[in-house]
Amino acid sequence: MDDNVKTPGKKSWMRWLWGNMQGHRVMYVIAILMTVVYNIMQLIVPYFSGEIVSLFQEAARTGTPLSEKLDEFILNLVLMVGLTLVRITIVYFTCMAYEYVSQHTLYKLRNFLFDKIEHQDMNFYNEYRTGDLMTRLTGDLDAVRHNVAWVIKSVVDSFALFVATAIYFFIMDWLLALCILSITPLLFLVILKFKHASAEKHRILRDKLSGLNTDAQENISGNRVVKAFAREEYEKEKFNRSNTSYAEANMDTQRTWLKYFPVIETFANLLPVILLLAGGLFIINGRIGIPEYVSFSMLIWAVANPMRQLGNIMNEFQRFAAASKKVMEIYNSQAGIVSKPDAVKHPDRFKGLIEFDHVSFGYEGGSVPVLRDINLKIEPGQTVAIIGETGCGKTSLIHMIPRFYDPENGIVKIDGIDVKDYELTDLRHNIGLATQDVLLYSDTIEGNIAYGDSSLSQDEVVKYAKYSAAQEFIDKMPEGYDTIVGERGVGLSGGQKQRISLARALAIKPSILILDDTTSAVDMETEKHIRDSLSELDFNCTKIIIAQRISTTKYCDKIFVMGGGRIIEEGTHKELCAKGGYYANLVSLQTGLELRSITG
Ligand code: GTP
Ligand code: MG
Repeated sequence: MDDNVKTPGKKSWMRWLWGNMQGHRVMYVIAILMTVVYNIMQLIVPYFSGEIVSLFQEAARTGTPLSEKLDEFILNLVLMVGLTLVRITIVYFTCMAYEYVSQHTLYKLRNFLFDKIEHQDMNFYNEYRTGDLMTRLTGDLDAVRHNVAWVIKSVVDSFALFVATAIYFFIMDWLLALCILSITPLLFLVILKFKHASAEKHRILRDKLSGLNTDAQENISGNRVVKAFAREEYEKEKFNRSNTSYAEANMDTQRTWLKYFPVIETFANLLPVILLLAGGLFIINGRIGIPEYVSFSMLIWAVANPMRQLGNIMNEFQRFAAASKKVMEIYNSQAGIVSKPDAVKHPDRFKGLIEFDHVSFGYEGGSVPVLRDINLKIEPGQTVAIIGETGCGKTSLIHMIPRFYDPENGIVKIDGIDVKDYELTDLRHNIGLATQDVLLYSDTIEGNIAYGDSSLSQDEVVKYAKYSAAQEFIDKMPEGYDTIVGERGVGLSGGQKQRISLARALAIKPSILILDDTTSAVDMETEKHIRDSLSELDFNCTKIIIAQRISTTKYCDKIFVMGGGRIIEEGTHKELCAKGGYYANLVSLQTGLELRSITG
């Protein structure tokens, strides 16, 4: 994580943004000051034009040839051109500075957000969908960058130009200045109304964009299901609905802007009319001269443009406000499952004693408890099986060990210490988990196996592939271990993916190995190979195997049978068969089925 990024509490967007500009704040403040300077310098041309017109007028009035005032004329002209060049240079470097600071802030924020998302717990991932998180990391974050680079700059631009010009106007003639600026309070009222109207529209717009991205992401990653059910047309329509809805939200936001735009534009266009009327009148009655009128007239855009710009800025600012709310939500989110401040450091291997002491658990928002008063003890080095009907809580139970979730009641202990007391990374480094839903990365097979330990040698990768009966099929692949597998392991069969996932779990030489239905898709022979390898591992390891097949559970030191979130039976294969309960039934059912499948 970037050390320069501070974790804020609830902060206003301004303080939040300022906090994240650390390291670039001086440059940003200089850019803002320079924005003020170059806007004040906008007065140069009209000022010198006024001076030059005065020279012409004086020459005409006194009848002296202009050549006598040539020096003064050239000086004014040179100063006008020279200072304009200086202004353009300042504008150039200021724009560069805004871009530099905004890009660095974006980079820092994106890293920080990714880090935040990375360290969130399972509840977070249940709550936020991938497409939504992707939108926050990209589109929403870019709106934040746009605020740093453009919106704030435009506010300073407009404000500085408006104030500088207004002051200049007042210096030239306070009454004419007052006449021109008399409509500004009305304009502010309109802008305020527009702000309220557009805030909600932008919030909806960001939500629609997130929905659109979520639909696209789910559709792309689920393309096999779409094809299997020939639901392309349905998905097309679904996406079209999201797309239409987003387009409509965009139109709606634009419509709100278009409703206010003519009013703002009318106000801005009224200014030259006021100048013409009031200025004309003041010239007639001798209050101002032609040079003053020229300066007023050359600068009238400098008060009209900020007025026009204000609506636009407000529109962009509301976009930023809606997007930053989404970004800050993730930024300020706190993972529920983290290491305690006084967590026990345990860089060494665990012995592997696992105990569940009256553990109960239910998912957030779930109506029924999933684990009910679980008590179990697994000795170091033992191989135990967990079996039970689908949905009875097997996966939920093993997820308590690496603290994917914490129990509501009771304690899960490893080597006699509550898992909550360990440093989270130490705990997880000691656990090798092959999950039920296998996910491989878009990487080589070797890269996938060595995912948990990138220092793994090629020989070791091969060794673990052999353990998990994966070597044979990998060797047959055109590029062997260098074969790139697609997202989610596209290009591999279910059983092949499971074997790579097992090799990946073994490759970290865990002191606790958890296999969640890892051999469900492999044939009996491969399963036997894996079983044999697991009993010959070259490191000490407690193994928990969730399985549905008796052929897997049979050889385990102990079997836990789960039902309705409880351990309903516990013992060896022999003991449980003798008991005549759920397990014994399962045995007779499966062996009966096997016999029947052999006899035809
Ligand atoms: P199989 O893998 O099908 O054999 O089931 P299992 O025994 O591993 O069940 P698991 O522990 O996955 O689920 C137990 C119960 O918890 C089921 O009723 C699920 O519907 C529920 N459940 C599982 N995961 C979640 C989750 O992330 N959120 C919520 N709310 N419920 C969940
Ligand atoms: Mg499961």
